[in-house]
Amino acid sequence: MRIVMLGCGGFIGSHLLDRLLPLGGVEIHGWDLDFSKIEKHLANPSLNLRQDSVSSSYALQEIEKEVEQADVVLNLVAICNPADYNTRPLEVIDASLFDIYPIVELCAKHKKWLISFSTSEVYGRTVASYLPQAGYQDLSLYELNEDETPLIMGPVHNQRWTYACAKQMTERLIYAHHKENGMPFTIVRPLNFFGPRMDYIPGRDGDGVPRVLACFMTALLDNKPMQLVDGGQARRTIVSIHEAVDAICLMLEKPEKSQNQIFHIGNPYNEVTVAELAELMRQTYAKITGDSSFKDHPIISTSAQEFYGEGYEDCDRRMPNISKAKHLLGWDPKISLPDVLFETMSYYHEKYAKSLSKASC
Ligand SMILES: NC(=O)c1ccc[n+]([C@@H]2O[C@H](COP(=O)([O-])OP(=O)(O)OC[C@H]3O[C@@H](n4cnc5c(N)ncnc54)[C@H](O)[C@@H]3O)[C@@H](O)[C@H]2O)c1
Repeated sequence: MRIVMLGCGGFIGSHLLDRLLPLGGVEIHGWDLDFSKIEKHLANPSLNLRQDSVSSSYALQEIEKEVEQADVVLNLVAICNPADYNTRPLEVIDASLFDIYPIVELCAKHKKWLISFSTSEVYGRTVASYLPQAGYQDLSLYELNEDETPLIMGPVHNQRWTYACAKQMTERLIYAHHKENGMPFTIVRPLNFFGPRMDYIPGRDGDGVPRVLACFMTALLDNKPMQLVDGGQARRTIVSIHEAVDAICLMLEKPEKSQNQIFHIGNPYNEVTVAELAELMRQTYAKITGDSSFKDHPIISTSAQEFYGEGYEDCDRRMPNISKAKHLLGWDPKISLPDVLFETMSYYHEKYAKSLSKASC
């Protein structure tokens, strides 16, 4: 199978390469700006890597040659860190929409199967969150269904929605090319894939504010308080990266089931509030380090404005209905949240253990 993989050096791309390359019989043409997560694959003869932006005119010419020969094109490119949505909005929109649209057009021109990674953020907030009270008593007001749930964004000045809107527009362009030009497609809406390599740790291998797991992990590593934004009442479901990769592999294996569909890839059995996640993480870290004082690691509250800056608001809840992935792909995630956290946090502990400090908060 010939695969063009755009954004192959990121978290999900690196795990896909780990799984696909040892299978044999695959030839992968990968593009990314950063190869630090895939160094072990750099010399693999089945991998043809290009370190360049997919938006450069040179890259587009080269990608077109690869697309012509490909069985499938996987698009993983994005700037997908919530702290960037309201602080680097133009780059966020470019990465998920304008840089990708020429690739969608190439796939349409050559009628190639495009598997594009979108996001559950396209739903915005749930209907339940706008109701005066008790909206969450009714599953139909918050459970997300790929083909029925409305997509509800906040106002334009809340620039937090830039990423969600750019992803939604790309989904609509893909769907339009499918309907008008017969381009086969699969849209994946991931819901919080967790695992090794998922994010950087500020001050060690990156700067700024990473996603929630890495924020809490940094606090534990640096012995600083874990900060709950607006009380940490937003709810999220968390799935192991390994089971997420299982789902993508099933899509590749079963094009007759996966083409021309939108899929949630998430684990509805692993739902937590962000406050519960912080609690679970400090318990897990006590287990990993053998230091029971982490069980009482300080947790403090902060406002979204203080933490993310102006123009931030959160999605209240993301409970995916995954019956389509179950029925069409035979995929049903099983790995429990404690196990996902243990693996992911052990990776971070191992990687950064040398710089651990137990300075007082
Ligand atoms: N990880 C999740 O739980 C999750 C959740 C929702 C959506 N997604 C989507 O899945 C996809 C992959 O996510 P991820 O977690 O691997 O993110 P990631 O940030 O680790 O990977 C994205 C990769 O795209 C690359 N990239 C960005 N702009 C580029 C450009 N112009 N040219 C070439 N490469 C470029 C980055 O260098 C990065 O390696 C993204 O589209 C993201 O929006 C992921």
